[in-house]
Amino acid sequence: MTTITSPQNPQLQDLRRLLARRRRDGRFAAEGEDLVDAAARAGWEPLAGFRAAGSYGAPGFAEVDGALLGRISLLGSGTRVIGVYGERWAPVPLGPTCVYLHGVRDPGNVGAIVRSAQAFGVASVAVGPDCADPFGPRAVRASMGAIFAVPVARGGELPGARVALVAGAGEPLGAAALPAEVTLMVGAEREGLPADLVAGADRVVHIPMRGGDSLNAAMAATVALYELTRLRPCEDPRS
Ligand SMILES: C[S@@+](CC[C@H](N)C(=O)[O-])C[C@H]1O[C@@H](n2cnc3c(N)ncnc32)[C@H](O)[C@@H]1O
Repeated sequence: MTTITSPQNPQLQDLRRLLARRRRDGRFAAEGEDLVDAAARAGWEPLAGFRAAGSYGAPGFAEVDGALLGRISLLGSGTRVIGVYGERWAPVPLGPTCVYLHGVRDPGNVGAIVRSAQAFGVASVAVGPDCADPFGPRAVRASMGAIFAVPVARGGELPGARVALVAGAGEPLGAAALPAEVTLMVGAEREGLPADLVAGADRVVHIPMRGGDSLNAAMAATVALYELTRLRPCEDPRS
């Protein structure tokens, strides 16, 4: 197999544009063995793949000079493998448990919420207006591969009771008897959820805190999902 050594190689230029999200054509790139392995475990076939010369046995991945691949990588430490995949959007948000994001702009938060969604068996994450792109490289990285396991949808009809998570308002989450089908709604890092969404919610709940004004959006989603799991215990398949 020939090793790609030229930065002008058209496949690498395409990859650079994908990583920078300058090319939006329904493809995205995932960097690192953990993510490429997670994709394979979830049954996602790469559309293309690149690996540093002499490393990682990903079959069919183009071999690239290691230093060159490291310069293309967005990871501070460089990478030995990058896979390119087709975005998959669920046609509608799925229940029985859905997390809806509204204005969550930090891709790290969006990815971390997708990761927690996988951990707590959420059926889908619905991405509303002004959210970071869940298939952007930082969100994909923060999801630690969960983006390949959790269906993501763009807005749409939210399943079940709409439960607005609002710091310091409504009922404490643990005391709220929630129906079996719910959508947890998480708001923007600065502004929180818009007033009309909160007013139209079936329930408004908060995570009780002993200090500070609010939790980070991803932290709040994670604590809320943990609490839902605690209230409706399920077997941990790994135990
Ligand atoms: C950083 S907070 C937004 C803070 C914003 N200043 C506000 O007052 O809503 C981001 C999101 O996390 C959720 N959140 C944060 N802390 C929470 C808490 N203690 N209880 C419930 N939701 C919380 C809410 O959905 C909120 O919109």
